[in-house]
Amino acid sequence: MSSWKWLPNFIFQICLINHVAIVKSQFPTPIFIHFKCQNNGSYTSNGTYKKNLDALLSSVSPNIDANGFYKAFKGENSDRVNLIALCRADLQPYQCRDYVKNATAEILKKCPYKKQAIIWHEFCMVQYSDVAIFGKVAYSPFDWGYSKENVPDEHKFYHELYILLDSLHNQAAYNRSPKKFAAASRANPDYRTIYAFLQCTPDITPQDCGDCLSRSALEIQHCCRAARGVRILRPSCYLRFETDPFYNETMVETVL
Ligand SMILES: *[C@@H]1O[C@H](CO)[C@@H](O)[C@H](O)[C@H]1NC(C)=O
Ligand SMILES: *[C@@H]1O[C@H](CO)[C@@H](O)[C@H](O)[C@H]1NC(C)=O
Ligand SMILES: *[C@@H]1O[C@H](CO)[C@@H](O)[C@H](O)[C@H]1NC(C)=O
Ligand SMILES: *[C@@H]1O[C@H](CO)[C@@H](O)[C@H](O)[C@H]1NC(C)=O
Repeated sequence: MSSWKWLPNFIFQICLINHVAIVKSQFPTPIFIHFKCQNNGSYTSNGTYKKNLDALLSSVSPNIDANGFYKAFKGENSDRVNLIALCRADLQPYQCRDYVKNATAEILKKCPYKKQAIIWHEFCMVQYSDVAIFGKVAYSPFDWGYSKENVPDEHKFYHELYILLDSLHNQAAYNRSPKKFAAASRANPDYRTIYAFLQCTPDITPQDCGDCLSRSALEIQHCCRAARGVRILRPSCYLRFETDPFYNETMVETVL
């Protein structure tokens, strides 16, 4: 037997490892994952709720639409599972499918046997529940994430930040695109440019979207005072700002 037989396979494996490394590098490390498992009902591992949930979760990645939104239910009565998934609006459809795949797998691991759960992944949100969630604005469960670095002058920073957030608020809520979002940056003469991104699930009204974003904007100074990057996470809306670029500016200009 030739000792070179392993070579093609070896080369193939190196390519595979490289490929995996490239795919993985799209994930920022450590990847941002926040989640809430609610204590309002459990399912068993052999029951219908579990079967419905598994079927729904595996249907997200192949079925999420070109706008990065997916809403579906399966089952009836107490076994009915409702699910909503939303990708960040600046993603390409293939990226969205990859990230929701990761998020749906993560949420099952993080919240085993919980009938209601939500995960805010770096680039998407997935939630499911046995109670109705479609078309209803939801401010909770609620969470946040923030940078450990603070801005040098809080007062000046918030002045600039709120000008930026105000300018994006209605753009997101009344966006005529099926993607209910807005993103922009604002030069900050005394410090660093601020980049902000706001998005709602498209199943709620513009008024509800605006309300949700307003609450989130107000929350910044309570949860995350002076942090130079903050995410406010709710089921119906997402607000994030940073002092480094973090979204695809080309894509944002294409869609807005
Ligand atoms: C908790 O679950 C019950 C029954 O499943 C439902 O009626 C109730 O609205 C739920 N509460 C919340 C806060 O979701
Ligand atoms: C599921 O398992 C539990 C405990 O393991 C058992 O009590 C219950 O009857 C089972 N249900 C079904 C539908 O098989
Ligand atoms: C999701 O992606 C992260 C980062 O690549 C990885 O560490 C994690 O294992 C993935 N989760 C699942 C359930 O595949
Ligand atoms: C950003 O969006 C543009 C336009 O859709 C796309 O061509 C480009 O590949 C995207 N960049 C990244 C890093 O995904």
